[in-house]
Parts: sequence; structure tokens; C-alpha cells
Amino acid sequence: MKIEFKDVTFQYYSEEKPVFEHLSFTIEQGTTTAILGHNGSGKSTIAKLIVGLLVPNAGQILIDDVELTEQTIDEIRKRMGIIFQNPDNQFVGVTVRDDIAFGLENHQVPREEMIQQIEKYATLVDMKDYLDKSPEKLSGGQKQRVAIAGALAMETELIIFDESTSMLDPKGTKEINQMMRSLKENFQKSIITITHQLEEAIFADRVMVLNEGKIVLDGTPQVVLKEKDILEASGLKLIDGLDVLNRLEKDDFDHKSSIMEALWELIFKM
Ligand SMILES: Nc1ncnc2c1ncn2[C@@H]1O[C@H](COP(=O)(O)OP(=O)(O)O)[C@@H](O)[C@H]1O
Ligand SMILES: [Mg+2]
Repeated sequence: MKIEFKDVTFQYYSEEKPVFEHLSFTIEQGTTTAILGHNGSGKSTIAKLIVGLLVPNAGQILIDDVELTEQTIDEIRKRMGIIFQNPDNQFVGVTVRDDIAFGLENHQVPREEMIQQIEKYATLVDMKDYLDKSPEKLSGGQKQRVAIAGALAMETELIIFDESTSMLDPKGTKEINQMMRSLKENFQKSIITITHQLEEAIFADRVMVLNEGKIVLDGTPQVVLKEKDILEASGLKLIDGLDVLNRLEKDDFDHKSSIMEALWELIFKM
């Protein structure tokens, strides 16, 4: 799914200033894009504009070259899945199975097909053994994986993760990050991952950094992560390895370039 923002201006009616003005970018079909920015930089606003929960004040949003409008949104919306920050707000069913089924029921998927889809995606997120359990009993990471299974079961072309790990402990965060990586590797989906944590952006094909309503960096993680000053000025916390690299860069020592290169590679393997 190709997503295009053309000169988009958006302002919450209660606010004095727009979140952004004349924002333009294109996300190509089948790519994994990380939208990175500090709290309040406008990331969720972008996600809500893409899924049509908010409407631009000016400019256009095009999905596969079709403008998002009141007339087109319903059809386009069916092709998108979004997973929010707090897994607790995404549960409605008595069992994990009900929860994964929820979206499918709304899409009027036949029963036989539904059963298969639920099994398939529960297995994929490693939650098959929990299908008959109550979602309330699950850990945060498990809940988020069920939410992902629910979104995957709809087989949408686009999946947006909006800070889906921010309520999780380190173990849960790692689980979800691994899940996102495997989605990227095993499906031909478009993925947008929204985060304020650099480590969650490094597996993306492309990283866009937002600050004060503007895209201040845009490129591969390898390129973007090297822009220490802009990242810091954008209110982002550098990841440990990166900080070490930056400190080493200033020093002179034997085998500097090969050590630096090895560290750099290590960061991308985290
Ligand atoms: N419903 C709302 N009403 C008014 N202002 C909002 C609303 N939601 C977000 N904002 C403001 O818009 C800006 C961008 O918010 P948001 O897109 O949620 O940022 P992020 O997801 O990057 O943390 C912030 O200044 C925030 O306070
Ligand atoms: Mg947000």
C-alpha cells in the first residue's frame, strides 16, 4: 500500500498551533517505515490521519493514488490494521479466540475460514495454547501479541504499530520487536512502526524523524542513526551502543576503524 501525504496541514481545533503544516512524504508499498519522534511530536496524529480517524485541514492524503475522502475511507480503512499503545484497551472478548475473531466477524468472514485464520495467526504469534484462556490473565507482551494476531488475521496490506511496546516490560518489548522483525521478513506487508525509541527503528527499511512538525531526517537506519546531533536535538535518547560509538569516534586508538565497524554491525544485530 502506497501512502502519500501532499502538503498536509493539521490542527486540533482546541489548539492554537497546527501539529504540522505542508507536510509531504511518500511511503512506498511493501516497505517497513519507522516514524520516530519525541512525545508530542505528532506521530499518532499521522497514524490517525492515515486511518481516517482525523481529517487534514488542508492538503491531501492518497492511498494507492486514491484520495482519502468521506466516500473512499470505508473501503480503504478495511485494508489497514492498527495496533495501539495500550493492549488493555483493545480487548472485548471473553477468550483470546473471541478477541482474534472480533475483527473477522466485522468483516463477515465465513465461519470455517475464520477458525482457520484464528489458528494460523495465533500460532504465528506463539499464542495458540492460550486461545481458550481469558485475555485478562495474560502478560502485557502476550496481550499485545494477541492484538497483533487480531490485526494480522484481517490480512490487511498495511499494519501500523503505534508505540505498541511502550506499556510493556523489557521482556514484552523484546517479544514484540522480534514479532515485528519476523513480520517484515515473512510477509509482503507495508509496515509503519511509530516509536520514540531508536532501537525500535533499526530494523526498518526507512526511518523518518519528526520534530516540531517537520521531517528532520529521512533515510535508512544506517544513515539516520549517524546523525547524533539532529537526533539529540529532536529529543531522542541515543541507544547505548551508539553513544559508545560517538565517544570512541573522538579518540584515537589502534585498529580504530575495524573496531568501530564491528560495533556498528553489532548495533544492527541487537
Ligand atoms: N485530541 C487532541 N486534542 C488536542 N491536542 C492534541 C490531541 N491529541 C494530540 N494533541 C497534541 O498534538 C500534538 C501531537 O500529538 P501526538 O500526535 O499524539 O504526538 P505523539 O504521538 O508523537 O506523542 C501534541 O502537542 C499533543 O498535545
Ligand atoms: Mg503517540
